[in-house]
Amino acid sequence: MPTLNENTQLGGQALERIVFTAAELSERTHTLGRLISEAYTAQDRLLVLGLLKGSFLFMADLVRAIHLPLHVDFLIASSYGSDKVSSGDVQLLYDPAASLKGRAVLIVEDIIDSGTTLNRLIPRLKARDPTSVEVCALLHKRLTNLDHEARWVGFDAPNEFLVGYGLDYAEDFRHLPYVASL
Ligand code: IMP
Ligand code: MG
Repeated sequence: MPTLNENTQLGGQALERIVFTAAELSERTHTLGRLISEAYTAQDRLLVLGLLKGSFLFMADLVRAIHLPLHVDFLIASSYGSDKVSSGDVQLLYDPAASLKGRAVLIVEDIIDSGTTLNRLIPRLKARDPTSVEVCALLHKRLTNLDHEARWVGFDAPNEFLVGYGLDYAEDFRHLPYVASL
């Protein structure tokens, strides 16, 4: 695996330190998959909705650890441009094609920061008649109380800007197999 120093060259900025290793991410994702598998049954018609782009790697690993019939779809909600600070404005750039009606919806998010994305998104999804809406977030900065708290969280994250394993800084660093701070 490339070292932190080699990956420093992959984006415009230097990485500070590895916060969660690939092995830690993998182990925790498998545990989350098991807990989620125990929380639903096949009758729930689970629909796993990944928030792009940040959740793409976590989503891919998580669904392979869930041992239930399920469908997969994605949603693109954008609240960040190339800046590190949320603009507070959430746009739905791609909406799931799948119907939510009568399904148990599980939203998969990479990281919860201000909570704005989920606070704005969840009411819109609930309006479409799913039987339930839950959130599984890989990382949670615990900065605010969400209107609808995440049922499953991978790790509490430090209040630093994190990249890797799907998370980006201006689109760089998403492909790193670990989570690092900038
Ligand atoms: P929130 O709406 O403020 O909770 O922000 C949620 C979204 O902002 C996440 O899905 C990420 O895409 C992005 N984000 C928040 N914090 C970070 C970070 O530390 N690194 C990379 N992206 C982040
Ligand atoms: Mg995101």
